[in-house]
Amino acid sequence: MAKITITPTDKEHFLRGDDLIVSKTDVKGHITYINEMFRKISQFSDDEVLGKPHNIIRHPDMPRSIFKLLWNRLSNEQEIFAYVKNICKNGDFYWVMAHVTPSYNIKGELVGYHSNRRAPSREHVAVIETLYKKLISMENSYPNKKDGMNAAYDTLMNIMENNQTNYDQFAFETIEFYRNMDLSSNNTELRKAG
Ligand SMILES: Cc1cc2nc3c(=O)[nH]c(=O)nc-3n(C[C@H](O)[C@H](O)[C@H](O)COP(=O)(O)O)c2cc1C
Repeated sequence: MAKITITPTDKEHFLRGDDLIVSKTDVKGHITYINEMFRKISQFSDDEVLGKPHNIIRHPDMPRSIFKLLWNRLSNEQEIFAYVKNICKNGDFYWVMAHVTPSYNIKGELVGYHSNRRAPSREHVAVIETLYKKLISMENSYPNKKDGMNAAYDTLMNIMENNQTNYDQFAFETIEFYRNMDLSSNNTELRKAG
């Protein structure tokens, strides 16, 4: 079934400090469980999301390169901490700090993935928005979406390497670190390759 098209609005919804949004998926990323907070903020019912790909709540402001990193990690059976902007059914949006992990059965076999999301720091979101805009603009500067995603992914890895961190640590560092972090473009060769 085709993914429904939602037109984004400018209205943001905010999680409170103790709110926790949970979803689980099978190994292909199809949703198998959502909690009450997920229903409440996303405005989707179980019937509308269970069995559907998790991109049902994907916001167009999210870089493809961030999801490439997420799936790289998960397919290597590693966890990831990530800032994600999600879309609600009516087009509104909300930011989360997500912790996404592989899930195993008692035999140790991979059965799917699990995401716990909490309210992000507002100061961090401001910096992440700048980073994500930069990644999206790089992604869109390539005629081919996949090339754009790969170039932005390499840029993201370079930014982290140049700042002697990785994406998860970046997600957890203090705001002082963020303020001093060099987000300038350092990947002219990749740009030229497009
Ligand atoms: C457990 C789990 C939770 C996920 N949560 C989200 C989410 O909250 N928002 C989102 O846009 N994608 C989420 N994803 C990633 C989606 O599967 C997908 O990669 C992403 O929305 C990009 O989709 P697209 O490449 O089809 O545009 C999640 C994936 C997994 C496995």
